[in-house]
Amino acid sequence: MKTAIITGASSGLGKEFVRQIHDVFPQIEEYWLIARREDHLQALSVPGVVLRVLPLDLTSDAYLSRLQEELSAQKPDVQLLINCAGCGYLGNFHESALQEQCRMLDLNIRALSCVTHAVLPFMAEGGRILNISSIASFVPNVRMTVYSATKAYVSFFSRGLHEELKPRRISVTAVCPGPMDTEFIQTGRIKGYSKTFDTLPYCIPHKVVRGALKAAKKRRAVYTPKFFYKLYRVLSGLIPHAILLHLAKT
Ligand SMILES: NC(=O)c1ccc[n+]([C@@H]2O[C@H](COP(=O)([O-])OP(=O)(O)OC[C@H]3O[C@@H](n4cnc5c(N)ncnc54)[C@H](OP(=O)(O)O)[C@@H]3O)[C@@H](O)[C@H]2O)c1
Repeated sequence: MKTAIITGASSGLGKEFVRQIHDVFPQIEEYWLIARREDHLQALSVPGVVLRVLPLDLTSDAYLSRLQEELSAQKPDVQLLINCAGCGYLGNFHESALQEQCRMLDLNIRALSCVTHAVLPFMAEGGRILNISSIASFVPNVRMTVYSATKAYVSFFSRGLHEELKPRRISVTAVCPGPMDTEFIQTGRIKGYSKTFDTLPYCIPHKVVRGALKAAKKRRAVYTPKFFYKLYRVLSGLIPHAILLHLAKT
């Protein structure tokens, strides 16, 4: 069955992807929805599409073998993989809980890479991968140092993989949104605690998703929503990071 796999499908951007995939990729017949909150995943529905709920904790030891078993059993024809699950916590590294710092590494880097590795054997020529990175990947963000480093990994990983997979005609798009009003902001204890976050223009999740799906359709390597952040991306390649670091402090 022509399949899309979406991690982080239970809320925010991931949930919005579930709503909009059909508009851009109507040929996809089945979506696999991955996140921890099974009730949130069960509540989703898309007319004409089969939804398979996989309640997995992507920071656990067991999730990968569970996903591999499911892939081997179902042998899906994966046309679209959206790695959306992610988290970010505000605070100085040395003053923050180690568990939260490690959670960012496990989810944003390790799980994204492992899920991609597990899914690739089931992705035929013409497949597409969307990795949700961030504007935090452009310049190190002081007070979100680990988060921005994980997103730099996501952007670099995506760019490299995009080239590696060209012979298989599989494209990888790194999506780099600015702040969005999702659970991410509450979970990361960000709102009200960061002048930068409180003054930056917010991106609207449904517009980000629309643009990201269109960018994936065109097989673009990077998609940055909003003119303001497109400009920031260009400047981050021109101005020394030693200068930008101070402006990008969260
Ligand atoms: N919101 C922003 O300001 C912003 C800006 C730039 C980039 N991003 C990126 O956008 C992506 C989506 O975030 P969002 O804004 O939509 O936030 P969100 O609403 O908090 O969504 C995060 C998703 O990840 C899932 N998740 C968290 N921990 C998990 C785990 N251990 N195992 C499996 N799934 C897990 C959550 O589901 P469960 O809790 O049910 O597991 C949820 O579906 C993230 O990669 C984030 O880094 C966000």
